[in-house]
Amino acid sequence: MSDGLLGTAAPLTADVVLLLETAMGVALLFGAWLARTRRFRQHAWCQSAIVLLNLAVIVVAMTPSFRVQVLPRIPAKLGKAYYALASVHAGLGTAAELAALYLLIAAGTRLLPEKLRITRYKPWMRGVLVLWWLVLALGFSTYVRWYLPHLFR
Ligand code: HEM
Repeated sequence: MSDGLLGTAAPLTADVVLLLETAMGVALLFGAWLARTRRFRQHAWCQSAIVLLNLAVIVVAMTPSFRVQVLPRIPAKLGKAYYALASVHAGLGTAAELAALYLLIAAGTRLLPEKLRITRYKPWMRGVLVLWWLVLALGFSTYVRWYLPHLFR
């Protein structure tokens, strides 16, 4: 057992990331519901706060872990689920966060020139939400593969 919160082999930071990311995934769904019920201002605040908090979690916890635990073993060990899961997760996670940041700037500010702003928000927002949940599922899978090793013996 380690010093984590959930009684797995994970260190405290990984458990905190898991819980925070789960909460953010659920909060994004709540935010989508706000838009459906036409509370657009609350929707914008909710989703923007999550995207920025996620950026902080990526920068502070996940990128450093990726650089130390995964990057040195690419491409040699990409055949192993342990590294493959984390790598696909990191790649799609980067795409999801960048797309979400773009949406935030394009929909919520006037910083971008007219041409780069979005006029049809809905398909973009839905697409990012689906991609985000796919990344979350890959994050869960990474956690299970890394910190519940007895399942794979
Ligand atoms: C929408 C974006 C993202 C979501 C929802 C997300 C979610 C998660 C979750 C739930 C975990 C399991 C908790 C853990 O093991 O720490 C995790 C782990 C991880 N993620 Fe992400 N993630 C995202 C983006 C990224 C990005 C951009 C990178 C890399 C640049 C990344 C790299 C990792 C790594 C290496 C782990 C294992 C960390 C460790 O346990 O030490 N993730 N992620």
